[in-house]
Amino acid sequence: MINITDSIRYIGVDDKTLDLFESQYILEEGISYNSYLILDEKIAVMDTVDERMTAQWEENLKAALGDRTPDYVVISHMEPDHSGSLLRLMELFPDIKLVGNAKTFQFFGQFFDTDITGKTVVVAEGGELNLGAHTLKFMMAPMVHWPEVMVTFDMKDKVLFSADAFGKFGAFADNAKDDWACEARRYYFNIVGKYGNPVQTLLKKVSALGVTTICPLHGPVLSSELEYYIGKYDTWSSYKPEDKGVLVAYASIHGNTAKAAEEFGKLLEAAGAEKVVVSDLVRDDMAEVIEDAFRYDRMVLAAPSYDAGVFPAMQDFLAHLKSKTYQNRKVGIIENGSWAPSAARVMKAELETMKGITLAPTTVTIKSSLKEDSRKALEQLAKEMCE
Ligand code: FEO
Repeated sequence: MINITDSIRYIGVDDKTLDLFESQYILEEGISYNSYLILDEKIAVMDTVDERMTAQWEENLKAALGDRTPDYVVISHMEPDHSGSLLRLMELFPDIKLVGNAKTFQFFGQFFDTDITGKTVVVAEGGELNLGAHTLKFMMAPMVHWPEVMVTFDMKDKVLFSADAFGKFGAFADNAKDDWACEARRYYFNIVGKYGNPVQTLLKKVSALGVTTICPLHGPVLSSELEYYIGKYDTWSSYKPEDKGVLVAYASIHGNTAKAAEEFGKLLEAAGAEKVVVSDLVRDDMAEVIEDAFRYDRMVLAAPSYDAGVFPAMQDFLAHLKSKTYQNRKVGIIENGSWAPSAARVMKAELETMKGITLAPTTVTIKSSLKEDSRKALEQLAKEMCE
């Protein structure tokens, strides 16, 4: 059993067999559904887990409870990866009270048919729940990641139960490792990234609390150097670049645009780019390319023309960027077209709908494959991206 503090236990589970989180995100090392137990005069379960893992979670819960009975379950988030075992919990402990806000219970009714009349404790911003030595304070965190999300601060142990915020793909660990940012960043930009402003609001709310431990709903508990993790969240949610560098995101039909993108990457290095990442939008993990788009301060798009527009993988990438509110970056364009190049026009039109995008002056047009004139244009664009 994992103790977070003297009276807080980890009772979550790792899901190592799920292929795609939310049916779209590749899981290299699975995902954890975190759930916690606060043992005091009254006992609170902090969220449940996806119903895929109910049986294992129930074992953890019973082991941590011993012969005691929980009084409350705090529902931070109704998304099924956390609410999926609520009905089993209510079946095991029919007198348990459900703690949530008005929206929590609206969503509860949408997901489930169970009558919860008389079983709810409705809390609002700043509401408190006393368990004995521990008092829980609730803060609303709408749109981090759904509208009903709330976080809970245990005023005694200074523990913040942060819902999806500070979550990460991969297994649970009782403290973060050096590589936390890699999968936390991919998780953040793809899952919460659209909601930078609500994350900023949450960071301001929790900044004065003196938090010593963050217990998210996915990934490791964070219990030291919290300024590092909070600093990353501050950068990410304010849409500021994290590192200097250029992402070259390309799509290619027969390999000529791919060759140009690879060659362009070398030209960027020669022109002094601090870091160059070249990614294939067709074969690489799109979620990772999205992550890199936000991570670096510059991006170059390279794509073939297709059906008088742009090749579908690039169209898809641009739609993702737009939905995650990509903004405030310098962008360069490389198009390929054998008879009537149209890719640059479409890429530019999409970028124009995003805030604070500065286009490099040179747009490179390749006619089928790189030739002397298009090589020269690539060199010019590389220079402009490194000015
Ligand atoms: Fe981990 Fe938004 O659910």
